[in-house]
Amino acid sequence: MKVKDKNFVSYLSEEEIQKATKRLASQLNKDYKETKPLFIAILNGSFMFASDLFKEIKLECEISFIKLSSYDEMSSTGNVLELIGLNENVFHRDVVIIEDIVDTGNTMKNVLEQFKDRGVKSVEVVSLLIKPEALANDVEVKYVGFEIPNKFVVGYGLDYDGFGRNTKAIYQLKS
Ligand code: IMP
Repeated sequence: MKVKDKNFVSYLSEEEIQKATKRLASQLNKDYKETKPLFIAILNGSFMFASDLFKEIKLECEISFIKLSSYDEMSSTGNVLELIGLNENVFHRDVVIIEDIVDTGNTMKNVLEQFKDRGVKSVEVVSLLIKPEALANDVEVKYVGFEIPNKFVVGYGLDYDGFGRNTKAIYQLKS
């Protein structure tokens, strides 16, 4: 498959993704049985995964969607990401963050710290993909679909420069 100027080869099939999604959902259904979790999906990349995962969640629960953006200030200290669209009060809630991919873990570290600062009862991450070789932070991702090598992937919501999201399978950059 070609996305913009780059060639990609098949990597994870629709069946493999759906199987992993069902496995993750059944773990969550078991672990959050006694609670009413609030799922927070991080846009844009996780929209397909969040949709398929949420269809398999049998709990009494809520879902909300946020976008991240860097504060654009000259005096900005560090790179605190703004959580755009978080209207729910997360104080004392059991939060499950839905992400498409954890690469270096910088994004997730930042997001997790912000949820902890807001006094959540618990916060865990479910990520379809994780690149263990790229992970530079001690971010705990409790629910992982696939551990993948440190190569760029697209499809199933994941993009290359905005394109390539609209597939049912995932493709890896051709080396
Ligand atoms: P991190 O902060 O390095 O963990 O990067 C997280 C974000 O980078 C993800 O939410 C994606 O938007 C993007 N990203 C990292 N690796 C890939 C990839 O292989 N394909 C598409 N997007 C990626």
